[in-house]
Amino acid sequence: MKRSKIKELLGTQPSGQTVVVSGWVRTFRNNQFIALNDGSTIHSLQAVVALNSLPEETLKRITTGACISITGELIPSPAKGQAVEVKVSQLEILGDSDPEKFPLQPKRHSLEFLREIAHLRVRTNTFGAVMRVRHAMAFAVHQFFNDRGFVYVHTPIITGSDAEGAGAMFKVTTLDINKPPRDEKGNIDSKQDFFGRDTNLTVSGQLEGETYALALSEIYTFGPTFRAENSNTTRHLAEFWMIEPEMAFYDIHDNMQLGQDLLQYLVRYALDHCKEDIEFLDKRAAEEEAAKPQEQRSELGLIDRLKFVTENDFQRLTYSEAFDILRNSNPNKKKKFQYLIEKWGADFQSEHERYLVEKHFKKPVILVDYPKEIKSFYMRQNDDGKTVAAMDILFPGIGEIIGGSQREERYERIVQRVNELKLPEKDLWWYLELRKFGSAPHSGFGLGFERLMQFVTGMTNIRDVIPFPRFPGNAEF
Ligand code: 4AD
Ligand code: MG
Repeated sequence: MKRSKIKELLGTQPSGQTVVVSGWVRTFRNNQFIALNDGSTIHSLQAVVALNSLPEETLKRITTGACISITGELIPSPAKGQAVEVKVSQLEILGDSDPEKFPLQPKRHSLEFLREIAHLRVRTNTFGAVMRVRHAMAFAVHQFFNDRGFVYVHTPIITGSDAEGAGAMFKVTTLDINKPPRDEKGNIDSKQDFFGRDTNLTVSGQLEGETYALALSEIYTFGPTFRAENSNTTRHLAEFWMIEPEMAFYDIHDNMQLGQDLLQYLVRYALDHCKEDIEFLDKRAAEEEAAKPQEQRSELGLIDRLKFVTENDFQRLTYSEAFDILRNSNPNKKKKFQYLIEKWGADFQSEHERYLVEKHFKKPVILVDYPKEIKSFYMRQNDDGKTVAAMDILFPGIGEIIGGSQREERYERIVQRVNELKLPEKDLWWYLELRKFGSAPHSGFGLGFERLMQFVTGMTNIRDVIPFPRFPGNAEF
């Protein structure tokens, strides 16, 4: 007989039909009531074992964590909160789980503890919900772009270029690090390396993405990216996934609009398609909030925050306008900011971004026209000579969720910037050549997938929204 999924059974009219269902035991009460979960939904199915219907030996093996397969009748449930249950006629133990040793007890564990058992944590309600939402968000990303005629491009993971010019890259090499070959000057001879040159894990697919936008008009990438920054925060990973659309014929305003449309679409998709998981996560976040001191609690619950984003336009303003607001703000005057806002041109820290979003505007914010010194070489230079057409989208509780810009499409201008910043012009030959052959105004941005996941699930630590987080000092699993 074909196995049914629990999600499907919970929505089926019970009429005594025989069903087969498999999953992992969450609890087994009174030698009678099994709560069985197969991950297809947050809800468990109740399976009822009639007294004396199974040998004592089998009953003992129905333990929290064990994997079992059940055959039985689907009947209306007399218990509260569930429409159906299964009356067990056959039960097979597929995989035992020693209750003395199984680390996941049917109680609340701390997220820190669960990170240490990342191979098992997805069997909890919280991580099951988060990972189903993660799947739905990835699917919705493709849906959004496909509906708009964007082409999905697979940009390389191993690259020879440093897209952000920030230098925080993981090296890729097959040389023997204990005795690498040397050239005449005694430097490591990367000509003898696998690719005949230095290579790294990509920090962004943008530069390769631009080449495709200048042929296919509208493209996007969605893949893993890597940053070797020593950032031990709740918003940084060393390996994270990024969505990077790149569009010919879009200026910075079209770019901002696309960013807003994408975020609103994804949040609405979660509300519409992940209802039960989001409701569970909403309750979970509310409990977490209740444990905090009053002044640190957020004013809105998770679902309220999600609706708020879908229903309101994002506030758009320039870096300079934001700078004035921040300089005159109370926390700046009272020296409550860790980094005080004094001189135009300084980069905003997450405390400043969150002040703008959570305290001043109380809605998502798009900042545009940043000082060129704090932004990347490829951003389009504005006529004032001081700023570039860069934009960041800032979200409550998160800070920067999207970073992007209009790109410098003028050959002389970009070469001048590459030289000013002493970037390796010869490695960028192909990127610069785009500006020689059929250059076009174009724009794009990067959305950090895990930051989106944090917002949508209300999980406060980015390490809890990716299956196996990589961060400084940790690459277990
Ligand atoms: O602002 P970033 O560094 O921009 C770029 O990489 C551009 N090349 C994107 C583009 O224009 N195509 O990163 C983009 C986004 C950030 O806004 C943030 O959401 C996320 O990627 N991000 C990280 N997420 C998790 N861990 C990290 N270490 C991250 N660094 C950036
Ligand atoms: Mg950025």
